[in-house]
Amino acid sequence: MPKRFTTLGHYPTTRLRRNRGEDWSRRLIAENRLSVHDLIWPVFVQEGSKSRTPVESMPGVDRLSIDLFVEAAKEARDLGIPAIAIFPETDPRAKTPDAREAYNPGNLVCRATSAVKKAVPGIGIMTDVALDPFNSDGHDGIVRDGRILNDESVEALVKQAIVQTEAGADIQAPSDMMDGRIGAIRKALDVKGYQHEQIMSYAAKYASAFYNPFRDAIGSSGALKGDKKTYQMDYANSDEALREVGFDIEEGADMVMVKPGMPYLDVVRRVKDAFGVPTYAYQVSGEYAMLRGAADRGWLDWNKVLIETLTGFKRAGCDGILTYGAVDAARLLKST
Ligand code: PBG
Repeated sequence: MPKRFTTLGHYPTTRLRRNRGEDWSRRLIAENRLSVHDLIWPVFVQEGSKSRTPVESMPGVDRLSIDLFVEAAKEARDLGIPAIAIFPETDPRAKTPDAREAYNPGNLVCRATSAVKKAVPGIGIMTDVALDPFNSDGHDGIVRDGRILNDESVEALVKQAIVQTEAGADIQAPSDMMDGRIGAIRKALDVKGYQHEQIMSYAAKYASAFYNPFRDAIGSSGALKGDKKTYQMDYANSDEALREVGFDIEEGADMVMVKPGMPYLDVVRRVKDAFGVPTYAYQVSGEYAMLRGAADRGWLDWNKVLIETLTGFKRAGCDGILTYGAVDAARLLKST
């Protein structure tokens, strides 16, 4: 049974506003506090050198060539951001129906990973495990006759997780939503001697319309045929999210994620209460676009809505948040 409040005092002796009267008092009673240690920064990488390309639907976000990505990672590390997540824009010519570029040890993600690993000690490197940046169908798994094949996809995902780990990634983050992939990846990592490398599972990932700007950024929106509803979750469900999270923990996930973020904070709370494992949420590209788009028109205050939304994630039970606003938030937290 959830705890229920009966009367805990009443007006006029009890006045809730008394505690809110001064800044020092508000700080004293604050239940949740956002810190730089809660932030994971997703970054888009592209081929080339000394080049950056703005992502049109995500104002303020650029795709970076590896050299600039290394500089950005240094800045993030120096601000105290614990980890970065890498997402590649793959050359369309390298995309095939079997997505084999995903497990090419010389691919863009692996090169970006090893460059940061070498040049920027002290920051965690997280890589995505999913086939969509490499798949000519734009799907996270392998497609045959219009169906997403589960077990064949898992085989490819395992190979992808291995090359990324060999390149130096610390955390494998499967975002593909195939059944059984966490166990398969954990086993393969252990067999290869990677007992220390972690898995953050995108455990409760919903089929969402909030991913569109991300698909623009990695260049998969043009390729995507249909939608992802046969593997990503139906946004009507949250009991099912607990089953997804439970399976992933049993299969060996070290950390779990709920995605998207803001419309799913109830799911975060249920997951945290049910399992008590390290729990994260992804404030996804569409959420960023929505806030930044309004801020750029002068309709919202970007700094304020950024910190408010991220604190909301903490209140919902998140141990950390993936956000494209991580660097902005880290700077703001430093100055306050
Ligand atoms: C792909 C992947 C997606 C995101 C992270 N990994 C998009 C999708 O599932 O289509 C979305 C991130 C965002 O929107 O910011 N496996």
